[in-house]
Amino acid sequence: MSPSESLQRYYAFHASLYDSTRWTFLFGRSRLVQEVKRRFRPAHILEIGCGTGANLAHLGRLFPAAQLTGIDTSAEMLLIAERKLRGLGNRVDLREGYYRAPLGFRQAPDLICFSYCLSMMDSGVGEAIAAAALELAPGGRLAVVDFHGSRHLWFRRWMRLNHVRMDEHVLPLLRARFHGEWVLVEGAYGGLWRYFLFLGQFRSAGGVWQAPGETNLPRQEIDGGRVTEAGVW
Ligand SMILES: C[S@@+](CC[C@H](N)C(=O)[O-])C[C@H]1O[C@@H](n2cnc3c(N)ncnc32)[C@H](O)[C@@H]1O
Repeated sequence: MSPSESLQRYYAFHASLYDSTRWTFLFGRSRLVQEVKRRFRPAHILEIGCGTGANLAHLGRLFPAAQLTGIDTSAEMLLIAERKLRGLGNRVDLREGYYRAPLGFRQAPDLICFSYCLSMMDSGVGEAIAAAALELAPGGRLAVVDFHGSRHLWFRRWMRLNHVRMDEHVLPLLRARFHGEWVLVEGAYGGLWRYFLFLGQFRSAGGVWQAPGETNLPRQEIDGGRVTEAGVW
């Protein structure tokens, strides 16, 4: 079974329970969206693995002029997203597909989000990050929230059964291509697991793409409790 088929099967069963259960453990989603708002105003938002559309609905409210595109491999999840986002009219474009290559927009997205999606991609995670790097408009941001790791083997095994890989592997892959201007690693349920939030810009050969007028923002990187100035390079 392909990774796409196995996720489709999983979410065909879980879609109807998704919104009523996931708020208890998919932490940091609202916080990430609020941080985006604090820093810039996107014109075209792409969420990869948009699921039932909770983030797109939130982003749509915060940015009433933005175009919203969501892609997901699960038809059942998208059906719920479609209902949720109906009120936003033709600002919303939902697509069914397994993301592994740039979608090739006429207007490139200036905000690309992955929310609890990359940790489910298994071997495709590198491809997806590389594709997003190619797809993002100059000056745009990548916003990610996801599981990071757990020191409990039984918990990692349990999450693996639920298609989530928790090996602290996603953050280094992001850092290899994107400059993290805001990065947090947080604990959940007394340290049972850790999740991260990442807001970054594409690393180009000459430095970081920077939107005009945003150079005076405080740039701090907080990782595992250690606080360091990320700076602009
Ligand atoms: C845990 S849910 C997160 C949904 C939503 N982003 C949220 O935060 O509520 C992960 C979603 O990513 C989708 N997904 C995983 N890998 C994908 C891929 N390569 N391309 C498209 N969708 C993917 C799954 O079908 C699922 O709907």
